[in-house]
Amino acid sequence: MLPCLLLPILAVGLVRAHADEPHACAPLPLAVMDNATVDGLLGHWVYIMGASNYPPHVAEMKELKYATFTFLPGSHDDEFSVTETLRLNETCVVKNASKILIFRHNSTLMHVEGQEASMAELIKTDKELLVMKHSKESYLGLSLSARTPNVSKEHLEAFRAQLRCLGFTQEETFVTSPKDACPPEGKEKDEATLATAEE
Ligand SMILES: *[C@@H]1O[C@H](CO)[C@@H](O)[C@H](O)[C@H]1NC(C)=O
Ligand SMILES: *[C@@H]1O[C@H](CO)[C@@H](O)[C@H](O)[C@H]1NC(C)=O
Ligand SMILES: *[C@@H]1O[C@H](CO)[C@@H](O)[C@H](O)[C@H]1NC(C)=O
Ligand SMILES: *[C@@H]1O[C@H](CO)[C@@H](O)[C@H](O)[C@H]1NC(C)=O
Ligand SMILES: *[C@@H]1O[C@H](CO)[C@@H](O)[C@H](O)[C@H]1NC(C)=O
Repeated sequence: MLPCLLLPILAVGLVRAHADEPHACAPLPLAVMDNATVDGLLGHWVYIMGASNYPPHVAEMKELKYATFTFLPGSHDDEFSVTETLRLNETCVVKNASKILIFRHNSTLMHVEGQEASMAELIKTDKELLVMKHSKESYLGLSLSARTPNVSKEHLEAFRAQLRCLGFTQEETFVTSPKDACPPEGKEKDEATLATAEE
């Protein structure tokens, strides 16, 4: 008796679940930007991976082999100064002239470098991870950064699953590798010498 009653309910449940499947990506809740969240952003981060379907961002991500950045307190509460170390193609570049403006009401971080500004919304995460959603017109991007280059397999797989669910292709997804890390400033020569010696 019981199974007969349950079956139709189950069947309805299954049909619903199936119909919802293409949209059933894990939600991307925005972080609540209180003092603790903002303070928790300070310090050093390593860019791990990202995806975008906005062609100019795809082009930039293709060149970006590795990146680290440090948020430092800025000239007021809702501003950080940033130093960034990027490897673009083969070349390491250090930037220290940009800043981040924080808009708490909509969880937005605005990166300002000279005349150029770009925005990202902060997604609620683990305190060791930084997930940002980059929207531009109708395009979408997502990026994952972490306190160290060592991100657990579980966190990486959850992020990759989210990207797949949102429909990003392999061609739109870029992963950095610690082997492309930039040497600390002034150490490049030593490392080159070491690499030669090891060969
Ligand atoms: C947040 O920090 C600011 C300045 O650092 C302070 O004035 C304010 O009271 C803090 N708010 C809370 C809720 O602690
Ligand atoms: C990186 O390499 C690509 C392809 O070779 C080139 O088009 C691009 O201008 C390079 N970017 C930088 C910043 O050197
Ligand atoms: C940025 O770096 C330059 C050169 O190393 C230095 O002269 C300048 O003071 C730095 N600016 C900031 C805001 O740290
Ligand atoms: C968040 O608010 C700021 C300031 O009000 C605005 O300039 C920005 O466009 C908003 N961000 C998003 C993602 O809508
Ligand atoms: C990353 O993990 C490796 C191996 O577990 C360890 O040797 C290394 O020190 C870790 N690096 C950082 C930056 O935590």
